[in-house]
Parts: sequence; structure tokens; C-alpha cells
Amino acid sequence: MYAAARSLLFRLDAERAHELTLETLRRAPALATLPFARAPVDDPVELLGLRFANRVGLAAGLDKNGECLRAWSRLGFGFVEIGTVTPRPQPGNPRPRMFRLPEHEAIINRLGFNNKGVDYLLERVAESDYRGVLGINIGKNFDTPIERAADDYLIGLRKVYRAASYVTVNISSPNTKNLRELQSEDKLRELLTQLKAEAERLAQQHGKHTPLLVKIAPDVDDEQLDAIARVAREAGIAGLIATNTTITRPGLEADPRAREAGGLSGAPLRPLADRTLAALRARVGTDFALIGVGGITSAEGARAKRAAGADLVQIYTGFIYRGPALVHDCAQALQAARR
Ligand code: FNR
Repeated sequence: MYAAARSLLFRLDAERAHELTLETLRRAPALATLPFARAPVDDPVELLGLRFANRVGLAAGLDKNGECLRAWSRLGFGFVEIGTVTPRPQPGNPRPRMFRLPEHEAIINRLGFNNKGVDYLLERVAESDYRGVLGINIGKNFDTPIERAADDYLIGLRKVYRAASYVTVNISSPNTKNLRELQSEDKLRELLTQLKAEAERLAQQHGKHTPLLVKIAPDVDDEQLDAIARVAREAGIAGLIATNTTITRPGLEADPRAREAGGLSGAPLRPLADRTLAALRARVGTDFALIGVGGITSAEGARAKRAAGADLVQIYTGFIYRGPALVHDCAQALQAARR
């Protein structure tokens, strides 16, 4: 069934297909999922003080504005991360800016945080009846100078704190100028210390604890990984999400389409993302939450993430190529592995 939908969607430009799918899911979540309907895998996991319905989540960027919350849980996801959202709405980069590489089960994108702004996202969350774990991923506006990045993250944190189950601080998109500089030790410490202090104040104010996670790039060396792991722990961050898209083109050097600028996701990213995840697990120890994302296109990919140290996994590109069956297969594989 998904194969039929996919062959129609893949005739369209990648971003147009994406928009059409979201529009359909938003208008008719029940209708859209009917052909694929299978009961979500019931494999509850306690982590971060939250209860995840199963270990497979929707990765950030697919539903940037939180418009399709009802649909995601019906499609079998055990948790959902929306965003990246910025304080003010912004259009993102000029089109075309999203490219499929079907033979590689990969996507290159340079969207640049196109989104309708945090207030719009919060309205969508407020009107939704989704009650599962909801991550909200926050970023900075493209025209906020990098020296003032913390201001944008603080605005985002304050606004989403109450509505979010957890908040992801995205400092790893390759498509916002200088953003990934925030992963360097001193800048990271400064940013995370400020965010953590604000989160503690918000916890008092709202009588609710919302854990902070940080999402990192796969394009970091061992020294940077040392620093990220150390600083995240020292700052009292609850967990890390590894990884975002890569600016490298592993195995695609000969493909002319791979020359498009942007972040690469999907199957070719997996070895790099798995390596980054395993390297982080080795550094943070066992009592620290890690969410593994990058290149899961099969149940085997999900198992590999667990083996590399992930408590939970997320999927984006694999979902585009394989559809809802992948979510179910992965959740089932991880449930079986637990037994
Ligand atoms: C992304 N990703 C992403 N991540 C994020 O933190 N904020 C975002 O806004 C986006 N936007 C986005 C758009 C598109 C078109 C893609 C393909 C990806 C990254 C995504 O969440 C994930 O980390 C990577 O894509 C790796 O996982 P997959 O796609 O290989 O499963």
C-alpha cells in the first residue's frame, strides 16, 4: 500500500511531496493512516522521567510546525519530536532545497529552518489531543547573530517549556550559518549553562521538570566528542541526540547529485552516526540518556543503534523510503530484543 503512495509522491519534487503528505495527514489523520493501520507496538520505556510508548520516535524536521500530531502516534511512533522551531517565523533557503537520492535511500536538504515560528507551533500543540511524549526541538533565527544565539534558545525554551515533554537544543544543523560553532567547548558550556539555569527557574515557576537534550552533528572529531560529553554532563543536560545530517558524502563521491550543498541523511549516514553514538556512549557511561538517529532503514538498523548504545531511536529518511511499516518493524525488533 505504501509502495503505491510512494510511487505517486516520488513523481513530485521532494519538498512538494513532503508538503502534500503533511497536508493530507493534517486534514485527515484517520483517513490517511487507515490503509496502513496496525496497532502501535506497545513496549513502554521509562526514561528521562517520561514514559515512551515504544522505542521508535519521529525525528525532528519532518513536522517542523507540529501540524500532524494525531497522525504520528497512529502511524506507530512511540514518541514524536517536532521543530526545529525558531522564535520568529522564517522562510528558509531558496528552493529547490531538498533532494532525493533513491538508489542510496538518502536525502540531501538545505531547508534552513523554514518554520512558522514558535507561537504557531504552540497553538497546534494546544489544539491537539496527542498525549504521548512530545519533544520540541528549538533553534535560532537565521538573522540572529551567532553571538546572540543564546537569546533565541532562551526565548524558545521559555515558550515551549510547559508544553514539551522534553526540549531538544539543536546546535547541529549544517544549514544555518555558524550554528555548529556552538558545539565547540567554550561556546557549548556558556550556552548550556544559561539554558540549564533558565530551565531550573522554569521548573519552579511551572512546578514541572522538562528535561533538556542536545542534538549533535556526526561531523565532530574525538576531541570534540570528549568536550561535548563532558560539558553536557557538567551542565546537567539530561541526554544527547546523535546525530543530525552530515556535510560529508560517504560512498557518494561519484554521484553528481551528491554535490548539492546541504546535510545528507539516510542509509549512507548510518555508519558515521552509529560510530558517533557509540563514541558518546563510551564517554557518558550507562546512566545518561542517548537517542540514536541517522540512517535507520530496516529493523537491523534499529538493532544496530541499540547495540551502539541508544536508549531510544528516531527515524526520518527511512520513513520516507519505507513508510509506516518500518516504524512498526523497528519497534517490534527492539521489543523482541528486550525479551
Ligand atoms: C532533518 N533533520 C532535522 N533535524 C533537526 O534537529 N531539526 C530540523 O529541523 C531538521 N530538519 C530536517 C529536514 C530534512 C528534510 C531532513 C532529511 C532531516 C535531521 C533529522 O532529524 C535526522 O537527525 C537526520 O535526518 C538523520 O536521520 P535519518 O533521516 O537518516 O533517519
